[in-house]
Amino acid sequence: MTDQKNWTKSSWNQYTALQQPNWPDQEKYNAVIEELSTLPPLVFAGEIRDLKAMLAKASKGEAFLLQGGDCSEEFSRCTAPNIRESLKVLLQMAVILTYAGNKPVVKVGRIAGQYAKPRSSDTEIIDGVELPSYRGDMANSIEPELESRIPDPRRLLKGYNMSAATLNLLRAFTRGGFSSLHRVHAWNQEFVKQSPMGRSYERLATQISHALKFMETIGISTDMPQLKQAQFFTSHEALFLGYEEALTREDSVDGGWYDCSAHMLWIGDRTRQLDGAHIEFLRGVNNPLGMKVGPKHNIDEILSIVDRLNPDNEPGRITLITRFGDGEVEKHLPGLLRAVKKSGHHILWSCDPMHANTFKADSGHKTRDFEKILSELRCFFEIHWSEGTIPGGVHFELTGNDVTECIGGARHLTDDQLGQRYLTTCDPRLNAEQSLEMAFQIADMIRTS
Ligand code: PEP
Ligand code: CO
Repeated sequence: MTDQKNWTKSSWNQYTALQQPNWPDQEKYNAVIEELSTLPPLVFAGEIRDLKAMLAKASKGEAFLLQGGDCSEEFSRCTAPNIRESLKVLLQMAVILTYAGNKPVVKVGRIAGQYAKPRSSDTEIIDGVELPSYRGDMANSIEPELESRIPDPRRLLKGYNMSAATLNLLRAFTRGGFSSLHRVHAWNQEFVKQSPMGRSYERLATQISHALKFMETIGISTDMPQLKQAQFFTSHEALFLGYEEALTREDSVDGGWYDCSAHMLWIGDRTRQLDGAHIEFLRGVNNPLGMKVGPKHNIDEILSIVDRLNPDNEPGRITLITRFGDGEVEKHLPGLLRAVKKSGHHILWSCDPMHANTFKADSGHKTRDFEKILSELRCFFEIHWSEGTIPGGVHFELTGNDVTECIGGARHLTDDQLGQRYLTTCDPRLNAEQSLEMAFQIADMIRTS
């Protein structure tokens, strides 16, 4: 259990909270928070504990974490097809990785609550007009109008409801037969099927179907939950602390506090100050926590934060998600790995190869290059192997849809094609085909044969 010395779910209020929206009407905001705190939790403590146990396994190399989804979910895209496509691509990637790595893949979506975004500046200039920055659909609207950019606390309630609707469908898809391994062929998206990646996936799916058929032929039942259901967890950046506090509940089973807005929460690279409100809040909840670590980190500070968040050194509690950028991993990762190893902390190491590889294309779009993403990942794996530590997971921004946001990949998407279906309101995502290709590339790295 976490160290709850002097901690309450509101003790973070005594600390500086960066990246919070400037809610214009405090009374309205308080009323919303009050209402949220009476609404049912979105996830249950028992599920959170299950995930933590699986992440503990991943930290020892006995499982592998696959975390991914939109940079920023949008209320207007909270639809059944979008949720289904996101789930499908993650299930496909998980199958590819499970088959290659011979170990369970822990599936965690950036979904059902990823509505709050940190920004580098409070305001932005659009067409010469200075507007409050877009901070995610749970704060304000992307529309470039002053009125729409003023944070509105009713959006927190809407975010809660959208998260509940998303989770409800995810639970139906994962428990109700859709995610059964018997349907492994059906997860392939129409637009991917004819591509080289789609065909590689079809071949793998056929091998799995044959294995299932073989089991049935010799009389082993394949009618079991391990094959017919998927375990799928949710995560988002724990950014707006009032919202997170309102969904934090005491568990009647173990008496601990759990942030029931998602199974796993992560702390962004911009809000992980040792004496900041985010660390204060998260140290007291029992969820598994991710923390992004970018190139500007200080090793001693990271160690102190890990001490504070996980004083009992519980395995599965902390996932450090490194995001250094292609060409920078060699500079930062070995020192960090050695220091953490020396400290004796149990850490699950994951790589986010997206956030430090963003650049502006000539077309003006914010993009990422498939090759650079892959190259950061390769470096991550190689350095872990040479340091004798475990590369236990990956973290992507991706979508199941046919978008054109990241350049490269098997179709060699170019700068001038980005405008065709550039739909993200925040960072560029891998499309379904690029995501499968990435999974096959990782599979080649982790293949145990
Ligand atoms: C993110 O994951 O969307 C994000 C903002 O990441 P980071 O904190 O690593 O910049
Ligand atoms: Co992002």
